[in-house]
Amino acid sequence: MDAIERALANFQSTYDTEPTVVARAPGRVNLIGEHTDYNDGFVLPMALPFNTVIAARPADTNTVTVASEGFGSVEFAIGDDPAGTTQWARYVHAVAAMLSAEGHVAQPRAWEGVITTDIPPGASLSSSAALEVAAGLVYTSLSEVSLSAGQLARVGQRVENEVMGLPSGILDQLASAGSQTGKATLIDCRSLDLRTIDFPAGATIVVLDTGTRRELVESEYADRQATCAQAASMLGLGALRDATPADVDRLASLDGATQRHVDRARHVVNEDARTLEAVEAMESGDLPRLGELMVQSHESLRDLYEVSGPALDAIVEAALQSPHCIGARMTGGGFAGGAIALVADDGDNSVNDFCQGLMGRYQAPPEQPATAPTKLYPCQPSAGAGYVKRP
Ligand code: GLA
Repeated sequence: MDAIERALANFQSTYDTEPTVVARAPGRVNLIGEHTDYNDGFVLPMALPFNTVIAARPADTNTVTVASEGFGSVEFAIGDDPAGTTQWARYVHAVAAMLSAEGHVAQPRAWEGVITTDIPPGASLSSSAALEVAAGLVYTSLSEVSLSAGQLARVGQRVENEVMGLPSGILDQLASAGSQTGKATLIDCRSLDLRTIDFPAGATIVVLDTGTRRELVESEYADRQATCAQAASMLGLGALRDATPADVDRLASLDGATQRHVDRARHVVNEDARTLEAVEAMESGDLPRLGELMVQSHESLRDLYEVSGPALDAIVEAALQSPHCIGARMTGGGFAGGAIALVADDGDNSVNDFCQGLMGRYQAPPEQPATAPTKLYPCQPSAGAGYVKRP
């Protein structure tokens, strides 16, 4: 049973009736454009065929009662501070708070329901963003308001920034809320304009979950975000989106700038350019160029931005040894979790061959032990968030 079927079954067995609303939000991978979103730059994600699902019915009180498969049941009052709510349910609670803070609804309607997910947690596939987006869809439908993908994503981003304390950008939430089947989406993280890009024929994305999981990397993420903001301000710019390669060269001589500022800024400026070039490569069906850009992105994240890790580097290297592999890179925040490979898909056996070869070749590096099994998932770009059922 997939997450939708399990949510329906769990709701039925808990409440002995059918849910009023069933909302679904997918995980994502980012094809290229990493650590550019909080610099007002460009990203190019696609949604995965793995969803987080919430099945719910309105409550008569202000209390939300929600059970997450494998994690038990939690209750919270909508008007209370989400900081007091236990970890996974804090996301669901905080979405209600941020819907109010954004002025979309004075007090969202409370509900009771169940959550299921097919998104492997901690694998850099944005399981928390999917939970935020699915919760946003449930609250808004029961409160009779309708939000754009950008508005929904902004609510989720504010949950991360203001409640979870992570100064992240809008990539994960907007990829989950705004993606389309068969397409990647170029997101301008300043204007939030979305441009759908046909995924080129003849290739498949394979998610490479190393089984390593992030620990205590929030401070590293915040450090990168702060360094970029400092670099932009030293250059007299609002964001590194506006910096040129010449600006990066001149950064070195500015007051207070360190080699780190220069390296981080160089990554961001080049990565934005690579992302726009990747769109051209996809549109002209130039898979080899797309693959090269992905590899350059990985190297820059590893060497200049320093957010890769031993397991991510090792799996990318092992993937690139396959004759079927066109490109590979880490995806998402980095340090651990998942990478992606662009694999030639001859409609016959090339993707299988790639997966089998990689499973045989990849060795988890001893300095970064995995806590979950290594898994490979061939994926086509899938649908963004939506309703399976709505009032
Ligand atoms: C995490 C964050 C995103 C983005 C990526 C890196 O996934 O949540 O906002 O910054 O890292 O591109």
